[in-house]
Amino acid sequence: MPAPDAAALEFLLTRRSRPAKTLAAPWPETDDLLPLLTAAARTPDHGKLEPWRLIVLRGGALPRLAALAEARGAALGLDPERIAKGSDQFARSGCAVAVISSPKPSEKLTEVEQLLSAGAVCLALLNAALAAGWGANWLTGWPAHDTGFVAEGLGLAAGERVAGFIHIGSETAAPPDRPRPDLAAITEWRNNCC
Ligand SMILES: Cc1cc2nc3c(=O)[nH]c(=O)nc-3n(C[C@H](O)[C@H](O)[C@H](O)COP(=O)(O)O)c2cc1C
Repeated sequence: MPAPDAAALEFLLTRRSRPAKTLAAPWPETDDLLPLLTAAARTPDHGKLEPWRLIVLRGGALPRLAALAEARGAALGLDPERIAKGSDQFARSGCAVAVISSPKPSEKLTEVEQLLSAGAVCLALLNAALAAGWGANWLTGWPAHDTGFVAEGLGLAAGERVAGFIHIGSETAAPPDRPRPDLAAITEWRNNCC
């Protein structure tokens, strides 16, 4: 019989994000972040390519990105509400980790698998932050997908993408949980050969 880790299982069964706009100071310090980043880097990675990297955004880096989102949004002709939404996630935050999908050349392993691994890094970081008692939220928004924004703001190379901005801070509110999927509707059980 397996030996359950009851606390870990209970965490996974009840975990939920905290909306980024409800996060506040105190924001995590370097010593707080290091174990979370270490947990995130301990992510399944077919072929051990490490097809991801992390950019920790704090202090002046965040208002700079907020201003860049305003400028890029205007240059792209986005409507003001959309621009504000793109910019606000940086303007309101005191700590975010950009998880960058950085696929490595490989004859064997597809870019899709490498991108999936970057998504897994996002969830591992999110869960590590929540398990450590922080509020955390995985956001993207249009800036994550704007090549001009990510090149100028984050120094991404061609072929790299933002898999997520993981905002981490102190929670000020825990809004009600969202409805969770109907397991029966998304799961098939196949036990028979025909
Ligand atoms: C790739 C990805 C990008 C997301 N981007 C956003 C976003 O830009 N804005 C937003 O409100 N939620 C976004 N979400 C949704 C939230 O991160 C999250 O799913 C929701 O808050 C519920 O999370 P929970 O299941 O951990 O409680 C995104 C989720 C994923 C997986």
